[in-house]
Amino acid sequence: MILHGLSDILDYAADAILVRDMDHHILYWNRAATERYGWSAPQVLGQSVLDHIYMGTSEHEFATAMRTLMRLGDFSGRMTHRRRDGGTVTVHSHWILVRDAGGLPRFILSISTDLRERVDFEERLVQAQKLESLGGLAGGIAHDFNNLLTVIIGNADELTEELRGREDLTELAVMIRSAGRRGAQLTQRLLSFARNEALQPEVLEVGVVLAAIEPLLRRSLPENIALAIQCRQVDGCVFVDRAQFETALLNLCINARDAMSRGGKLTICASMSRLSDARARRIALDSGEYLVLTVSDDGSGIAAEVLPQVFDPFFTTKARGSGLGLSMVDGFVRQSGGHVTIESQPGSGTVVALYLPRARGTPLFPGLPLPDPSPVAHTVLLVEDDPALRHHVRKQLEALGNAVVTAASGEEALVLLQGELDCDVLLSDIVMSGMSGTELVREARRRRPGLHVLLSSGYSLDNLEGVAPPADIVVLHKPYGKLELRNALEQVAFSRHA
Ligand SMILES: Nc1ncnc2c1ncn2[C@@H]1O[C@H](COP(=O)(O)OP(=O)(O)OP(=O)(O)O)[C@@H](O)[C@H]1O
Ligand SMILES: [Mg+2]
Repeated sequence: MILHGLSDILDYAADAILVRDMDHHILYWNRAATERYGWSAPQVLGQSVLDHIYMGTSEHEFATAMRTLMRLGDFSGRMTHRRRDGGTVTVHSHWILVRDAGGLPRFILSISTDLRERVDFEERLVQAQKLESLGGLAGGIAHDFNNLLTVIIGNADELTEELRGREDLTELAVMIRSAGRRGAQLTQRLLSFARNEALQPEVLEVGVVLAAIEPLLRRSLPENIALAIQCRQVDGCVFVDRAQFETALLNLCINARDAMSRGGKLTICASMSRLSDARARRIALDSGEYLVLTVSDDGSGIAAEVLPQVFDPFFTTKARGSGLGLSMVDGFVRQSGGHVTIESQPGSGTVVALYLPRARGTPLFPGLPLPDPSPVAHTVLLVEDDPALRHHVRKQLEALGNAVVTAASGEEALVLLQGELDCDVLLSDIVMSGMSGTELVREARRRRPGLHVLLSSGYSLDNLEGVAPPADIVVLHKPYGKLELRNALEQVAFSRHA
């Protein structure tokens, strides 16, 4: 054959080089072709390419390529070739028509370059672009959502105040506020995602986090669903982003709720467990100690054909679902070095298990259910005539976990104190138009002997002619930060008073 002298040289080529006759019988097959497709030259010489690498190619595709070749003398394009083991390989193939001296078509030379690396790269690029646009979308949603949450949290604050004395209703308002705050943390996360920021993991005691989120979980479930949290005192920590962890748990509980429309039992169980090598390998984790957190329900379960898709973003079987719940849970757990499994029996329920690596180290705030301010530490009556400052201090007090009622003047505060207002700390500015803070304190103490009082002033005490407070009253000097405010509150709350 014409190629005899050249064949040794062509064996050095990285591309698969084939020569076939006009009936597609293979005349030459280089070493790269053997490596790529799995058949050796003796196995394929004389046989049709259509029974080998073009076995999976549609007749139409092959005929189109042939037509181009015959018309133009060559053809090139991306093709999928079949390998001996049944797998496929994506190649860029270049066919050249070789004519004899009389101009008659004799052979077809084809040179095919493996595109696997390029395809991988393109897939990664597409994935990155998808993530980028998802990030942009998330950022936009987070931004608008933040505005809505501001209204929700603000109104929940108002309600919390308005409902003082109505324990049953206050509890609901506090719950709205704390869910709103969690939502705000979540949108913060979304914004970070949009900006490609990482999670903010911290060492957390699992028992503490579960205990802190339990009331919110209970509230999210209707009465016909019984929630049991087992092993709450699980001993040990994990290193995760708290807001994400809580959100993941909430997502799982809401999925369970949706699956138990006629009621049922929801069980959250947490335990530290050492994964054996074999078990760890099965779920693609390193062996070691893990927190195993299972959320089980006895609801509708998931059909076997649907189960493989439930972690896909936007996969939902619900009319109003976004299909992002489980994919977010999965993303969070993976980023935290763990793994999620889901098992389900249609008709009898579902178990989702999160595996999170046990953390060494100790929590930064042991036992403190941060950052949520519940339970409320004090109810503070804040008296300040400057509206902007009133708003600001109120925010600070709330951030410290207090419930706040405000008044714009001493007179207004006195009216509140004469009524049924339930508060234990009075924090008042000293110099105000109308009644001064010092006068207000005197009156307030007469009416409510048990009240803790705290005054604040932008003036030095020496300059407070006529309105200087008695020496036993703690005075907070403006400007003060949250830390000073907290210390002053602690000081008055633990002091004995007249
Ligand atoms: N505990 C469960 N029981 C039955 N089906 C479930 C359960 N958890 C998830 N699924 C199924 O998996 C699908 C995907 O769940 P995922 O939480 O990702 O989205 P969703 O709940 O549909 O929407 P959302 O974004 O509001 O969470 C659900 O639509 C449901 O079909
Ligand atoms: Mg869901």
